[in-house]
Amino acid sequence: MKFFLDTAEIEDIKKAVALGICDGITTNPTLIMKSGRNQKDVIQEIAKIVSGPISAEGIGDTTEEMVKEAEEFSTWAKNIVVKVPMTKEGLNAVRILSKKGIKTNVTLVFSPSQALLAAKAGATYVSPFVGRLDDIKEDGMLVISEIMQIFRNYGFATEVIVASVRSTKHVVESAKLGAHIATIPPKVLEIMWHHSLTDKGIQTFKEHYEKHKNTVK
Ligand code: G3P
Repeated sequence: MKFFLDTAEIEDIKKAVALGICDGITTNPTLIMKSGRNQKDVIQEIAKIVSGPISAEGIGDTTEEMVKEAEEFSTWAKNIVVKVPMTKEGLNAVRILSKKGIKTNVTLVFSPSQALLAAKAGATYVSPFVGRLDDIKEDGMLVISEIMQIFRNYGFATEVIVASVRSTKHVVESAKLGAHIATIPPKVLEIMWHHSLTDKGIQTFKEHYEKHKNTVK
């Protein structure tokens, strides 16, 4: 299973890269806005740190606009993946971009039927948003399970990026379902490291080591 980081914050990316757990990056206009920086500058800086896929998202509505944006983004670095929205125009852009060898990530996917259409269009990745489905009292992980079943049935090469991840449970459930990738916000990634019994166990072992070390030769 690959871990992507869902962020445009350089310091967070550097930390995850140093720990060897950053297989790629996803961004969106909200994350770029939060960074307070120009999209091209941020993406190019990320590309100096991360060799895996880096998703960049545009705002085009028509197929033509999306293809134009994608062509520009793909000049920024060799590992750019272009995020395209789950619309008819978006999937037309995916078809065109896939012929041009530009990798795509179909975003704002909320149902198995949308994922199936994106895979048939030749998307490199699809991003179902589990957290936003949970927010409206639907079952985000059920959608992942259905998409994985469909992709396996037909051997689609399209990889599933579980997005809108809000908890460690989302990541663990994604792994159990065999999702290819989870794109994880830095805050959630941090929580994944910890368990109170780990901290307690380390403390106890240290105490016992100290207690024992002067009692035997
Ligand atoms: O990158 C898309 C995505 O992960 C959005 O997450 O938390 O804004 O629903 P969220």
